Amino acid sequence: MAVSFTVNGEMRQVDLPPEMPLLWVLREGLNLTGTKFGCGIASCGACTVHLDGQAVRSCQVTLADVAGSQVVTIEGLGNPAALHAVQAAWIAGQVAQCGYCQSGQIMQAAALLAKNPAPSDDEIDAAMEGNLCRCGTYPRIRAAVHDAAKRLSGV
Ligand code: FES
Ligand code: FES
Repeated sequence: MAVSFTVNGEMRQVDLPPEMPLLWVLREGLNLTGTKFGCGIASCGACTVHLDGQAVRSCQVTLADVAGSQVVTIEGLGNPAALHAVQAAWIAGQVAQCGYCQSGQIMQAAALLAKNPAPSDDEIDAAMEGNLCRCGTYPRIRAAVHDAAKRLSGV
């Protein structure tokens, strides 16, 4: 039976196995390939999306889990004409190196700022520590989160 949920503001009906991880529903079922597979065991954060406003590892959430819920992926956070503040800060700070981890980093950072609009360095590090970056972009990520916080506050 198809599962209905909202993805990036659009109601979708997906007829895939209910136990399929949301990561693969998004990538293979809905062609939303901005969400990345890194580890599959909740250890890297590359697959981070928002589920009802919370940052979650989409490799650990099943299709059945998201029935009736709101999912936002990197494709729905902003768009080229209206970037989310986190995306704008990431571009301004040239955060990405290879880029593979960055959609997950951005989704994690956006969820942090939605809860805590002015995080300290320690709060940023605590919120982002589960999002791994093999390129070591952590200092630029931290600076960009501060920049995004300023953009969101209008300073
Ligand atoms: S792929 Fe989900 S946490 Fe690594
Ligand atoms: S930018 Fe390469 S893994 Fe993070």
